Amino acid sequence: MKIALGVTGGIAAYKAAELVRLLQDRGMRVQVVMTRAAQEFVRPLTFAALSGEKVITDLFGAGAEEPNIDSAVEHIAVAQAIDALVVAPATADVIAKFAHGEANDFLTTLFLATTAPVVVAPAMNVNMWENAATQANIQTLRARGVNIVEPDSGYLACGMVGAGRLAANETIVQAVLRALHAEQDLAGETILVTAGPTREPIDPVRYIGNRSSGKMGYALAEAALRRGAKVILISGPASIKPPASAEVVQVQTAAEMRDAVHANLERATMVIKAAAVADFTVRQAAGEKIKRNGPLTLELEPTVDILKEISARKGSRLVIGFAAETTNVLANARKKLESKSLDAIVLNDVSQPGIGFDSERNAVTIVTPAGVENVPETSKWEVAHRVLDAIVKLKAERHASSTRH
Ligand code: PMT
Repeated sequence: MKIALGVTGGIAAYKAAELVRLLQDRGMRVQVVMTRAAQEFVRPLTFAALSGEKVITDLFGAGAEEPNIDSAVEHIAVAQAIDALVVAPATADVIAKFAHGEANDFLTTLFLATTAPVVVAPAMNVNMWENAATQANIQTLRARGVNIVEPDSGYLACGMVGAGRLAANETIVQAVLRALHAEQDLAGETILVTAGPTREPIDPVRYIGNRSSGKMGYALAEAALRRGAKVILISGPASIKPPASAEVVQVQTAAEMRDAVHANLERATMVIKAAAVADFTVRQAAGEKIKRNGPLTLELEPTVDILKEISARKGSRLVIGFAAETTNVLANARKKLESKSLDAIVLNDVSQPGIGFDSERNAVTIVTPAGVENVPETSKWEVAHRVLDAIVKLKAERHASSTRH
């Protein structure tokens, strides 16, 4: 395996030296690429000594008396030779350049030229990290399939406290390993993912809805696609774009979602239900816009529990539910796991601020009959991968037990 490690100009550049070693310990050859700013923090010699390879420092051959054609096309050769590109630390500047397709040094050119998986580990001042421009650039990169390793929170070199510290090297290594195996572990699976809210009509212009944005379900769909699965995404009305290679079925109401799930269940080998399906619907929606003539009473009736229904005919499929809870969260999730005969349930404590509904971030507990695994607050993309990791493990356990019997 050959990895290109891009080092950009931040105080955390020195931490990339240990990263070289950790990647080598996993049997990878590391080609270090440094930006000009990175060389202000650490000398290329350090990386050359650690990696045993010449460090690339310039698009046109650093130190060469004359720029030559070999060095000018080297980025293409490196782009084709590598199995992954890792950028750690990644500054706000390089993230912006990646997002906007700029290619004015070796690293940014390599980023555009490679088709290998890319892992970006940002490190910067908390305000720079939280700035809307940086967050928009991160979203752009994530939507294009770049694996972002969220920075840690804590004391920063600038003296401030908050998010922006380079993630632990071991976390970055795990992200690299996952990116390298991304195409493998769900290949051959067809995963039915439900996402978003449902809308239950009151009259032609009003409905009962909820705050689900679809982000969690779409992240699951995108992550599953990246790991080689086919994805049937059954989505309630969401304002974000679904992943390009998913087969998307758009629905509005809980009843439509139920029909779509049943119509596609046969083709699916796994089901993940992240949608926030209405528990109640209006018994008789008005055919015309209701006039404001004093108080209005709506008669609601329960919707069909789609998850419970499909569990009854799931066959050998793995079925994973979500549980949005605000009180007695673990006990309630366990109850749903059992009553809906699920293989796992992803507990979302939506009473926590800043996560869950309509947020970029989430924190969940993955509950299986065998135990619980906490996923502390992180991006929905990372949560999606952790849920898929748990599913891959369940699948392996099931396979192992079926070959034993
Ligand atoms: O969309 P986002 O803004 O990204 O937010 C993500 C989320 C908070 C919506 C998501 O993480 C989440 O928790 N989804 C489940 C929300 C929910 O409806 O939970 P519940 O506890 O009410 O339902 C339990 C399970 O039964 C869910 O898998 C649900 O899809 C399913 N269900 C519920 C009702 C129903 N009639 N049929 C169902 O299949």
